[in-house]
Amino acid sequence: MEEKDIHKDLPEIDLLTNDKFVPHHEFDGIRELANNPPWWLTFIFIFTIMWGYVYFAKYHIYKDAPLQEEEYAQEMAALVAEEEVTTLADASGPIVEVDMTIPLVDEAGLAKGAKIFSSNCVVCHLAQGQGSIGPNLTDDYWLHGGSFGDIQKTITNGVVEKGMISWKTQLSAVQIHQVASYVTTLHGTNPPNPKAPQGEKYVAK
Ligand code: HEC
Repeated sequence: MEEKDIHKDLPEIDLLTNDKFVPHHEFDGIRELANNPPWWLTFIFIFTIMWGYVYFAKYHIYKDAPLQEEEYAQEMAALVAEEEVTTLADASGPIVEVDMTIPLVDEAGLAKGAKIFSSNCVVCHLAQGQGSIGPNLTDDYWLHGGSFGDIQKTITNGVVEKGMISWKTQLSAVQIHQVASYVTTLHGTNPPNPKAPQGEKYVAK
C-alpha cells in the first residue's frame, strides 16, 4: 500500500517571513524554516571543535606542555627555591661569588645596605650620612681612611674607644660589605647641615 505524502500540498515558502520551509519536516502543524546559520558562525563552530582535538592531543595525549595545575605547581616551586636561595645568601654568605674588595653596584645589594644603614647607623651618622655623634660620611675627609677597604675595616672592627661600635658580631661579612657599599654611594651627596669635616682628605686613586 502506498503511503500518502501529507506534506505534498503544503506551501514551500512561509508567507510571513518569505523563508523556505525545510521540506517534509512538520509536526503537529509546526514547520521549521530552512534558515542556515551565517557562514562565520559555522566557521567558529567547526574551528572550536578542531581546536578541541588539537588541545586534547597536545595536552593529554602527547603531554608536551604542562597543564594549568602543573604549571602552577612549577611556578610555586620556583618561587620557593628562589626564596631559599636569598635566605641562604643572607644567612651564610652569597651563593654567587662576590668580590668583597670592591663595592657592590647592583641595586638589590645596595638596597640591603641601605636598609642595614637605616636600622643600625642613622642614630649616630643620621639618615643621609651627614653626621652627628659619628662623622660625616658624605665628604672627602676620613678619620680612618676613605678607601673601600678602610671603610669596611672601620665598620668591622669599630673604633670602640671613640664610640663607633664594632659590627662584626652583629652583622655578617656579607652585610658589612653591603652597608659599606651603601656608604660609598653617600660620598659627594652634599646633604643639608653636614657635620664639619674630620680627618684627612682622601682622594680615590
Ligand atoms: C653609637 C654611634 C654609632 C653608630 C650606631 C655607628 N657609628 Fe660609625 N662612627 C661613630 C663614631 C663616633 C665614629 C668616629 C670614630 C672616631 O672618632 O674615630 C664613627 C666612624 C665611622 C666610620 C669612619 C668614618 C671616618 O671618618 O673614618 C664609618 C665608615 C662608620 N662609622 C660607619 C658606620 C656604619 C656603616 C654604621 C652602621 C652599621 C655605624 N657607623 C654605626 C659612631 C657610630
